[in-house]
Amino acid sequence: MSDRYIDFANSSIGHRLVGALGLPSPVRLERWQAGRLRPVDGALLLGGGPLSEHVGAFANRLTDAIYSYGAEPSLATAWIPGHGPKLKAVVFDASHLQHTDQLKQLREFFQPLMKNLASSAHLVILGRAPETLREPFAASAQRALEGFSRSLAKELRSGSTLQLLYVGAGAEDQLEGPLRFFLSPKSAFVSGQVIRLNACATQVTDWTRPLAGRKALVTGAARGIGASIAETLARDGAEVILLDVPPAKTDLDALAARLGGRSITLDICAEDAAAQLIEHLPDGLDILVHNAGITRDKTLANMTPEFWDAVLAVNLNAPQVLTQALLEHGTLRDNARLVLLASISGIAGNRGQTNYAASKAGLIGLAQAWAPTLLERGISINAVAPGFIETQMTAHIPFALREAGRRMSSLGQGGLPQDVAEAVAWLAQPGSGAFTGQALRVCGQSVLGA
Ligand SMILES: NC(=O)c1ccc[n+]([C@@H]2O[C@H](COP(=O)([O-])OP(=O)(O)OC[C@H]3O[C@@H](n4cnc5c(N)ncnc54)[C@H](O)[C@@H]3O)[C@@H](O)[C@H]2O)c1
Repeated sequence: MSDRYIDFANSSIGHRLVGALGLPSPVRLERWQAGRLRPVDGALLLGGGPLSEHVGAFANRLTDAIYSYGAEPSLATAWIPGHGPKLKAVVFDASHLQHTDQLKQLREFFQPLMKNLASSAHLVILGRAPETLREPFAASAQRALEGFSRSLAKELRSGSTLQLLYVGAGAEDQLEGPLRFFLSPKSAFVSGQVIRLNACATQVTDWTRPLAGRKALVTGAARGIGASIAETLARDGAEVILLDVPPAKTDLDALAARLGGRSITLDICAEDAAAQLIEHLPDGLDILVHNAGITRDKTLANMTPEFWDAVLAVNLNAPQVLTQALLEHGTLRDNARLVLLASISGIAGNRGQTNYAASKAGLIGLAQAWAPTLLERGISINAVAPGFIETQMTAHIPFALREAGRRMSSLGQGGLPQDVAEAVAWLAQPGSGAFTGQALRVCGQSVLGA
């Protein structure tokens, strides 16, 4: 469903009216276009501590316009506020900040940038996870980055985003994958997130086809977010297998044919679903995306057992049972990437969605609980928690709630299925084992559960 308010707010008369009335004025977000090669289409600014040098080592693969500010002049061309180009991407290494008085470097670095950002600019702050630091004041300073970055993300305008990446020991030289995602329009609808990265044994070898040679299964792939995930994984070189219920066969087959993949029609709640899947996947699987999901909304007072059971069965029980079976049977290969489609309802709670929110919170818990054991085989498991995404599922929400869902975020609009798909595609990459047991929100920094 299209968001008519964005069209209005970006028309010449609408823009003036919206400004005069103090209404939200969301911009059209820039998104990744097929065929594009460079993650950053414009000036990239590097600054801060020693990790910016690690970024400098591959920065010329992100863009050919690299600048430095407040850092060693040798790093790149010096950027001068008011004279340098508008900035499309910024990386500030704050990992060296260990005392309260050093935190002023955040203000000193970012303040001059605020009026010099291009539209849809992407900013990243690098730090060290507080829980890994022994010295309490250093841990406190690194934790302070969280409050700073989440607040600054809310102050950004014109579709810009900001994330904080806590870089673990050994992950310093593996930042290219995350930065290709977080500095590019692939993360257009991700903002205000705190991400923990660790070292990962496998890495992407060809950035034009980062998923080449990988076999991926996407459930609920006939339409909406699942269809977009299948398309994006195929774009990135994966061999895709699309699964959906038998009534969706026509759409599913058509999409599978277009993507050069295969289709499986199967109800994931069927008693023999695990056995059928194993039979369909004799050559194993590298990427498993549990996207199929349903809503059956009612307040708890009116919740029927059928509504409750259906949602828990599709959204939580099926991903648990099927993943366990595919692991036990050896279908899921070493270094596999598992992604569970959760929701910010599972983080914040949502009136009328006790069943749905329980199922989605359960998926986040599943990722957290399984991650340490699966890591022994190099397998990562994460939840992706979309906020308001424009699909058939959200088109059914009553008008007022739908409008509220769209505007209650820093980016002031709903996301597109492509936004969720890009996050899943990043998590599916060989190098993304650096990120496991976490929930990545794709919600435009929604105020819900933040
Ligand atoms: N749209 C949003 O704003 C939003 C927000 C947060 C989370 N999500 C989650 O993202 C996922 C996709 O959402 P969507 O909006 O694209 O939904 P959708 O309803 O458009 O698509 C869901 C797909 O899952 C399939 N499916 C349902 N039950 C199945 C079963 N038993 N076996 C096999 N396939 C089954 C459906 O046939 C459908 O093709 C869901 O898990 C949803 O909960 C969506």
